[in-house]
Amino acid sequence: MKIFEALRKDHDKQRALVKLLLDTEGKSSVRETYYQQLKDELEAHAVAEERHFYAPLMQADATVKLSRHGVAEHHQMDKLIAELDECDMATPKWMITFKQLAEKIEHHLAEEEREFFQQAGKALSEQEKEDLATEYQQEMAQ
Ligand SMILES: [Fe+2]
Ligand SMILES: [Fe+2]
Repeated sequence: MKIFEALRKDHDKQRALVKLLLDTEGKSSVRETYYQQLKDELEAHAVAEERHFYAPLMQADATVKLSRHGVAEHHQMDKLIAELDECDMATPKWMITFKQLAEKIEHHLAEEEREFFQQAGKALSEQEKEDLATEYQQEMAQ
């Protein structure tokens, strides 16, 4: 497996959880469960992705800018998550803020999969693409 496939698999998990959460209402156990799952997914993914995908791409001229942009977006998502954590799930503000996070996630994943994967495809060797997938998956399994 190559790194792109490994990342895309987890992106799809995030998309599925976002979709489920958009259908939740009020302070329900379903919302609490999916929200916790999404947070865990996002956090683990961002750390492993920065380490095993962005970091090697910071070394190449063609991908350094995209990597920095990606890290900045991870921070923006962290900030929205912190806002949501402070927000009462029973209030409408929770869903308003969650929709902002959902849009940010959708935008970020689409950008990574279109623009970033294409540039990274040229910057990394075939062996690197496989090694990074192994490293990324090992870290996610922990
Ligand atoms: Fe990312
Ligand atoms: Fe990602």
